[in-house]
Amino acid sequence: MGWLNRDVISALDFNREDLVTLFNEAREMEKYARSRLNILEGKIMATAFFEPSTRTRLSFEAAMIRLGGHVLGFGSVEASSMAKGESLGDTIRMLDSYSDIIVIRHSLEGAAKYAAEIATVPVINAGDGTQNHPTQAMLDAYTIWREFERIDGLTIGVLGDLRYARVVVSLIQLLSNFNVKLRLISPELLRPRRELIDFMNSRGMSYSMHSNLSEVLSELDVLYVVRIQRERFPDPVEYERVRGSFRVTPETLAGARDTLIVLHPLPRVDEVDHRLDSTKYARYFRQSALGIPLRMALLKLILKGE
Ligand code: NCD
Repeated sequence: MGWLNRDVISALDFNREDLVTLFNEAREMEKYARSRLNILEGKIMATAFFEPSTRTRLSFEAAMIRLGGHVLGFGSVEASSMAKGESLGDTIRMLDSYSDIIVIRHSLEGAAKYAAEIATVPVINAGDGTQNHPTQAMLDAYTIWREFERIDGLTIGVLGDLRYARVVVSLIQLLSNFNVKLRLISPELLRPRRELIDFMNSRGMSYSMHSNLSEVLSELDVLYVVRIQRERFPDPVEYERVRGSFRVTPETLAGARDTLIVLHPLPRVDEVDHRLDSTKYARYFRQSALGIPLRMALLKLILKGE
């Protein structure tokens, strides 16, 4: 399947060839990420964000503007007529008639798929519920590819909330297209869900689960950290039990490979010490900056083709 007019709903819809095309395009877009490339002149992107966002929404908007297109949209339920009781379906129908592509974020799983069924224009899932955030995973995989010029053969540690973090699900789904070793590190309560474990088994992925970073640190090429997703916990008592249960500091990284890189989708709360920012390991700000060329590449491929 080519990229033209494609919806981006789940990381599972993309194979290795799609990703290589995307990464090569993003690499090209890096040249224009601070200037302009007027290839989407006259096109309008609508952002429908029913949940908070800084990076995802603003980097999609900046990417569209860099490509010469226009943006409109809203960043919260309160700012849309859904606050007056309008349905998601009607909201999407409107945006469909006002724009050429819709980027949606929602707290409910399946919202993006539902929007794509209603809309005639392509729909991009910018995060829905606890299970999908495909463009963040594309950005994460792209950052790894840019850092190492490959993904195959790497050992990737994922530390944090492996239960409620949608970025983790999408990232693991995307990484199943490559030959990687996964080290999944979390408190017992935040281990991956059964579905994700079944998925890794069905793809024959190499993975192991751990409670402490120190068990695997020395073999890692990448350490991907994700915050505890407090707002997605059904029970606040459960959150209190895991709160503050892991923290990456310059000291906890003693014994890491020299070439280790630490990634984080951001926002961070307290799981990555600010002192790490100035160490050779930190790559999370580069990662978020690469969101611009990666999303420029996505918009270009979907609206103009390869
Ligand atoms: C992530 C999300 O919204 O799921 N944020 C992002 O898009 N960079 C991760 C998170 O909120 O922890």
